[in-house]
Amino acid sequence: MPDAFDLIVLGAGPGGYVAAIRAAQLGLKVACVEKRPTLGGTCLNIGCIPSKALLESSELYHLAQARFQHHGIQVGKLGLDLPRMLQRKDQVVKSLTDGVAFLFKKNRITPFTGYGRLVGPGKVQVKPEKGATTDLEAKHILLATGSEPTPLKPLPFDGKYLVSSTEALAFDKVPEHLIVVGAGYIGLELGSVWARLGSKVTVLEFLPKILPQNDGEVAELLHKSLVKQGIAFRLEHMVTGHSVKNDQVTVEFENAGKKQTIAGDRVLVAVGRRGCIDGIGLEEAGVKVDAKTGKVQVDEHFQTTAAGVYAIGDLIAGPMLAHKASEEGIALAEYLAGQKPHVNYGTIPSAIYTAPELAAVGLTEEQVKAAGTAYRVGKFPFSANGRAKCMDQTEGLVKVIADATTDRILGVHILGPRASELIAEAVTAMEFNASAEDIARICHAHPTLAEAVWEASRAAWTVALHA
Ligand code: NAI
Repeated sequence: MPDAFDLIVLGAGPGGYVAAIRAAQLGLKVACVEKRPTLGGTCLNIGCIPSKALLESSELYHLAQARFQHHGIQVGKLGLDLPRMLQRKDQVVKSLTDGVAFLFKKNRITPFTGYGRLVGPGKVQVKPEKGATTDLEAKHILLATGSEPTPLKPLPFDGKYLVSSTEALAFDKVPEHLIVVGAGYIGLELGSVWARLGSKVTVLEFLPKILPQNDGEVAELLHKSLVKQGIAFRLEHMVTGHSVKNDQVTVEFENAGKKQTIAGDRVLVAVGRRGCIDGIGLEEAGVKVDAKTGKVQVDEHFQTTAAGVYAIGDLIAGPMLAHKASEEGIALAEYLAGQKPHVNYGTIPSAIYTAPELAAVGLTEEQVKAAGTAYRVGKFPFSANGRAKCMDQTEGLVKVIADATTDRILGVHILGPRASELIAEAVTAMEFNASAEDIARICHAHPTLAEAVWEASRAAWTVALHA
């Protein structure tokens, strides 16, 4: 007899493991199948967490090199111990993946290590790397298998010269010249890491601007800042091919109809991610995938086109963000337990951990304009914020976009120190349909970076105080 559960989750990333824990908390008997030996998925193992660990370390190195003197701190000869830096990153990852394993135990979730696959209504087969398969049964099955880097035909991944973010988190020496293809989240974060550690970094982007999804004005300010930091950008560049010789990669590309080449010792290809849908039995189970987008089709309760099979996170439409997957996982678990959850897709924040950081929630100015809504914009620069000055991090601004008629906040875009933390206030405000005046009338501690959010809200409502 196969083991029987209320819910089997395929994938232990921030979508799957969070859904498993929430379902177990609500009394469901839960199993979670994961192909990696550790839990936590891409986010904890080879994504958000290790990249932020390296961003933190590399930023400290950069500050010690470039800014400590300004604070009156003298250091001796500064050195880089890359193996130690990578080891610290791995320790951070291990403590967090171990933490998920602990939570699974605590919540009596049964983990299975192996490749999970739908093999019939309510049935999953787990194939470990070695040894016999295990058959499982459940009333509900959740697909939360996440995503993998999208390959680029002219630059196929080879694990050494042409790499994805996975390898770029663990280069054993600082590349002399790192070519990054794609000016998106991964390209800019990992490009920043290696630039701070001493690489020459050149980013090739297909579109005429970086971070095409973000508010154009704020993305352009980040672009300028990254250029000042020494990262070179080549926009509107279409990669067409490559060759490897003498430990060097030559990337061929076209710009304005002209064929050109650029040589470097490593190429990071970061042109997006695609859902992990191969080999999990979708077709046999009747789970439909949108032919255009490659996304698994789901209804408002995350149910796929197969009864009892659900999907969340990077597999379905929406931003490919860990916290979006977690929100959906929680909502699904609560729905299966008979509750009436809701995911507000209008208030899912995004954060990119460059220096300065860029965080956003809601609509961009371009989107508000395109919708034909009359709006007001309030801005406040960190150069006029006391705390930012004390921190010696005055680049960037807060931009609040509010409806001109109702004053309701439509979007908030923050470029600056700790923007990823500051955005939480804007998310909370928008979740409660706040107006710019609402934030303007809330007392903010002084001196804090959050005062810039307050000032930008005042500016959107009427006028900033320190204007
Ligand atoms: P992305 O979608 O953020 O950016 C890809 C970039 O590559 C775009 O600017 C695109 O125009 C460009 N591009 C596409 N094809 C190209 C080509 N042939 N040549 C040159 N440029 C090309 O994708 P990325 O950076 O790979 O990240 C994947 C996913 O991971 C994203 O959806 C992101 O949300 C998520 N992520 C989130 C992070 C965060 O929340 N801080 C950090 C890292 C990744």
